[in-house]
Order: sequence, then C-alpha cells, then structure tokens
Amino acid sequence: MALQRRLMLCVLTVGSLLCVYILCVNLERPLSWSIEPLKHFHGFSQGASSSSRDSEEPLDRKSNSDQWTHPPPASTFHPELTVLHEHTRATQTPTLKPQTPTAAEHKPAESTVPGVSKSSSRPDGVDKTRTSTKSPTLKPRLATQAAGPTEPPFIGDIYMSDDIPPQTDCPGGIRSRVSQSEFRGQFLKNIPVLQWAKHVTPEQHQRLSHYPGAHGWGGVDYKTLVETLSVLNSSANWQMLDDWKHRHSKSGCTHCAVVGNGGILKDSKKGTEIDSHHYVFRTNGAIIKGFEDDVGTRTTHYTFSTNTLMNSMRSYAGVGYSGPPLSNETRYIFLPDHDRDYLLMKAAATHAPVERGPERGKDPLQFFGEDVSAEKLKMYHPDFIRYLRNRFLRSNALKTRYKNIYRPSTGAVMLLAAMHTCDQVSAYGFMTPDYKNYSDHYYDSSYHAVGFFINHDLRMEMTLWQQLHQSGLIKLYMHKSIQVDQE
Ligand SMILES: *[C@@H]1O[C@H](CO)[C@@H](O)[C@H](O)[C@H]1NC(C)=O
Ligand SMILES: *[C@@H]1O[C@H](CO)[C@@H](O)[C@H](O)[C@H]1NC(C)=O
Ligand SMILES: *[C@@H]1O[C@H](CO)[C@@H](O)[C@H](O)[C@H]1NC(C)=O
Repeated sequence: MALQRRLMLCVLTVGSLLCVYILCVNLERPLSWSIEPLKHFHGFSQGASSSSRDSEEPLDRKSNSDQWTHPPPASTFHPELTVLHEHTRATQTPTLKPQTPTAAEHKPAESTVPGVSKSSSRPDGVDKTRTSTKSPTLKPRLATQAAGPTEPPFIGDIYMSDDIPPQTDCPGGIRSRVSQSEFRGQFLKNIPVLQWAKHVTPEQHQRLSHYPGAHGWGGVDYKTLVETLSVLNSSANWQMLDDWKHRHSKSGCTHCAVVGNGGILKDSKKGTEIDSHHYVFRTNGAIIKGFEDDVGTRTTHYTFSTNTLMNSMRSYAGVGYSGPPLSNETRYIFLPDHDRDYLLMKAAATHAPVERGPERGKDPLQFFGEDVSAEKLKMYHPDFIRYLRNRFLRSNALKTRYKNIYRPSTGAVMLLAAMHTCDQVSAYGFMTPDYKNYSDHYYDSSYHAVGFFINHDLRMEMTLWQQLHQSGLIKLYMHKSIQVDQE
C-alpha cells in the first residue's frame, strides 16, 4: 500500500514537472496559452514583441535587470541557455534587448493579425518560363494575385523577379522536378536568392523598408545600403555557384551537400560522401576538426548572420569552433537581419575595420582570413527570406505577438537556398522525426535535447524536410529505421 502511494506521488510529481516543462518549451504556440505562463517570460515577451532585429542580440545588462525578475522555471534550464546562438535557442531570455512594451502597440498590424494559412493556394507562384539572358534583368513581380483581403501587410507576398540564366542545363534538376511536385504552386524559379549592387535603388528601398529584420530593409538607411551593397558588384556576387564554369562543363549537374549541425551526424561516417559533392554548404557552429569522418572536411558555402557568427564563436569555443571555415574554395553568405551584417560585409570586402555597430573596430580578416575578397562574399536577398517565411515556413508564430522575431532558421535558409540553386541536394544533419534520439549538435560532448523557441519553428522545418524528401526534391539523411517506416 505504502509503496503504491509513494509510487503514485512520484508519478504525480514527474507529471507536473513535465507539464511545466512542456509549457515552457512550447513557446512557439503562445496563442494556445493562457496569459499566466507568459509572465514567466516577461523580459522575453517584451523583447519579442518589439523588434525582429534584435532577437539574437546580446543582453544589455545595464538596462535589462527586469528580465531576470521572472526567470524561466528551473526545468527549462539548459547549460547553453546563456549562450547566444542560432539554430534553437537564440531568443532565450538572456539574448533579448529590453524594449518598452508600448513599442509593439504602435505597430498597426498588431491588433488585427488575421489567420494566415500555409495551405492557401498561390497561383502567382507558378513560374513563367525562364529567359536566358546574359546578365540578370530585374523587374518587380506583378501583383497578379491580390494576396487576399485579409493578408496583413507585413507578409508582403510580392517579390522581385531576377532573370538569372541557369548555370547548367541539367535535365533532371530540382527546377524541372519541382513542376511535377506538390511544391509547384509556391516555388518561384526567378526569386532573387542573393542581393548585390544592382538591387540598391530608391524604389527598392521604398518597397523593402516596409519589412523589418531579415525580411526587408526596414531600419537600414539608404546610405548604408548603397555604401555596403555597392561592393558586391561582380558575377560572383549574384551567382551562388560562381566557380562552376571553372569546375565542370555546362552539361553537368550541380550536386550540393547541405550540412546542418544536428546530432544525427555523430558516428554517421558520412564525411567522404559529403565531400564527394561539388559543393558543400555549412552554417554557424560547423566544427570540422575532429569530426571529419562524420561531416567531411570541405566547405564551399558558409551561411551565417553576424549575430549567429559572434554567438557561435562565444558558445562553441570550448568544443573547438574558432570561426568560419577557411579555404580557398569557401564563400561566405551573409543572412542580413541587421545593419551590422552590411557593415561587416563591407569591411571584409575592403579589408578595413568595421566602421560602427557592435563589431566596430573589429578586423574582418580575423573571421574570414587574409584572402577574403568581395568575390568570396554573398548576401541573401530579403525577398528570398520573406518568400521562404511566407511560402514554406509560414509558422503560427506569425499570428502572435512574436511575429516580428520569427524567421526561418539559418540552417533552413541555407538548405532552401541550395534547393533554389543546385540541381541535386543532399541534406545531412537536419532535424528528423526521431530527433529526440540525438543530441542537439554532432559536437556536443554530452546529450543536449533540441530546444524549441519562438524565433524559429523547428517542428515546421522538420515537417518540410520530410515533405521535400518524400516529393523527391531533396535527399534527406535519416537513420534506416525511419526510412523504412516511410515506405
Ligand atoms: C557595377 O559595375 C558596373 C559595370 O561593371 C558599373 O556600371 C556600375 O556603376 C557598378 N555599380 C556600382 C554600384 O558600383
Ligand atoms: C586551392 O588550394 C589547393 C591546395 O592548397 C590547390 O590545389 C588549388 O588549386 C587551389 N584552388 C584555387 C582555386 O586556388
Ligand atoms: C530512438 O529511440 C527509441 C527509444 O529509445 C528507439 O525505440 C528507436 O529505435 C530509436 N530510433 C533510432 C533511429 O535510433
């Protein structure tokens, strides 16, 4: 009897702890919450509602003591929570800048965020035939389809169209397969993946300044854009696979390995296979030394934002991350969500110290090596990021007060960018339905559960990777037991 009662008590305790935990890790669905639990995240929700630009900003301790008044319950504590990095937990409390709660109320869309539906059909997503001109021509995509009377203005499902000639004429490439897939209605073949000098015009600034953070140029002044983006003025800046013509004949197909940092890669022995692709994409805390057998050695494209790079360098120094990979084939692709990205990019291209902002005075060569030049730098176009958010990863977070800090994760942008530029894409180290079996990262020295926070929707991303894999557009590395389940 006594034993039973003790057992019961034990079960109850574990149950309620679990409840608290679930409440805390499910921040990406705040609408389903009562107001109460949000109070635990007082500092968090303040920062969250205020600005999409600072979701991963370092904590300003002087003015943000309030943040610690309501610390998250101990059960959500994770040794890396103090760590500022992308992928999972970047918006956890310590990373947010304080903002006045009123800031959010000034945003017109705040009070009337109608339902946004991922499943709504988008006829204007069907692509027109690509014209093969010598250099890209730019024209704003016509608003052939009103986005719907209820679509909030921050969505902005109208994009520039860039007619960049295809780099290969691969018959079975993703671009040709997509038109037979369930993704044909949302995939835009002419979406500009990268931005460069030609894109900076007063008209574009006017158009893009409506969208903050990674989704536009909101908050970045025109002068800064001109001064920084004008250094990206060569074909290497608008072509993702800029050295393809030196590597292979035009008749070939481009094969890209896209490597996330997920724990599934540990002991995978996929290194040789990864390195055998023409191009190898990596992101953020991509530690190679010591993990070559599992993740390979090459990096041709490294995706990051200035913030996630700084966070990764702080967080993973202890496990061997000292900065972006350095090799003569490595290109650096900025995901700009702040003017600090434009400033660091310009500094790297011109070998000058960063002019201002959080990186002021820093020597860019310390991150990108002595050989860095404008030809090795690229920058994602805000239209591309907004398009990914709107059409591939339209999370429920957009219906909440957190809509301004939500964006696709850096890894998701990298994988979807590869899918828009390569003929074949193999993805490794991305989240799979059995993610609980693996640590967060392949280089974690002990098990760390994947964390879920409001600035990304990793579950939605995981589902998208499954759909893309099943529709044959990408090949996703999974452990055998799952692959069997799918058949
Ligand atoms: C980019 O280069 C072209 C010619 O190569 C030049 O006409 C144009 O002014 C340059 N743009 C910028 C912003 O420097
Ligand atoms: C890069 O370096 C490798 C070895 O150091 C060399 O074989 C190769 O030719 C170089 N490639 C370029 C494009 O400079
Ligand atoms: C994941 O873990 C569960 C439970 O521990 C186990 O049943 C399952 O086989 C594991 N799956 C893989 C792919 O290792």
